[in-house]
Amino acid sequence: MVASFDRKKSLVLSMVLLFLFVSSSYAKFSMMVTKTEINTICTKQDMNSSFCFEILKATPEIARLDYSDLIKYLITYQARYISNTVKLFKLSGGYSKDINSTYHVCVEVYEDALSGRDNSLRYLAAKDYPNLSTLVGATMDDAFTCIDEDLSTMKPIPQLFMTRSYAIKNFSDIILVVLQCFLKYDYYLCS
Ligand SMILES: *[C@@H]1O[C@H](CO)[C@@H](O)[C@H](O)[C@H]1NC(C)=O
Ligand SMILES: *[C@@H]1O[C@H](CO)[C@@H](O)[C@H](O)[C@H]1NC(C)=O
Ligand SMILES: *[C@@H]1O[C@H](CO)[C@@H](O)[C@H](O)[C@H]1NC(C)=O
Ligand SMILES: *[C@@H]1O[C@H](CO)[C@@H](O)[C@H](O)[C@H]1NC(C)=O
Repeated sequence: MVASFDRKKSLVLSMVLLFLFVSSSYAKFSMMVTKTEINTICTKQDMNSSFCFEILKATPEIARLDYSDLIKYLITYQARYISNTVKLFKLSGGYSKDINSTYHVCVEVYEDALSGRDNSLRYLAAKDYPNLSTLVGATMDDAFTCIDEDLSTMKPIPQLFMTRSYAIKNFSDIILVVLQCFLKYDYYLCS
């Protein structure tokens, strides 16, 4: 009885080891972003799935990118989106002459975020994930500044700017998930 139980256990153990071996070599030779991984990224808790799928299915090239290229794509996409947001806001009725208003704070932090883009790409290329993560987080904070401060107290409420600020934050969410889950920076955060 005991012996057969042990045999079963060792069979299970060797299957687990085989699985680990196969999956680790699979990971080594298949760095492309798969549909399953996009599902994993986009169905994470607190992720706006429809937004995420929209971004990651935007072009067929996505499937040909590796993780690093995917982050590059997202950083570039996010920067373009921030740039358009600032342009739109400057054109919109959200304008205020008060230089201390949230309007000015937002435009300033977003312009600052844009100026960080080249550094982000440099950190990514150098695999300097801690500094990259800091910059991505800083952009997220910038979006939160615009959401949380008092855009909602402006009249009229610049709804477009609020919505786009949420989207800017959500870009950072997606980048951080890829960084944590697939490039294994701060892997323990990826649950
Ligand atoms: C998710 O993002 C989409 C834009 O892609 C937006 O229309 C929708 O309101 C968002 N969902 C939630 C729950 O915020
Ligand atoms: C903006 O804020 C600064 C410091 O808080 C203050 O010195 C300045 O007078 C303010 N400017 C206006 C136009 O309210
Ligand atoms: C990366 O971050 C560390 C710690 O904050 C800092 O000391 C270092 O200068 C940064 N690296 C670069 C290239 O900026
Ligand atoms: C971004 O995600 C948050 C939830 O984390 C959601 O409330 C918001 O509506 C989303 N916005 C967009 C445009 O995806």
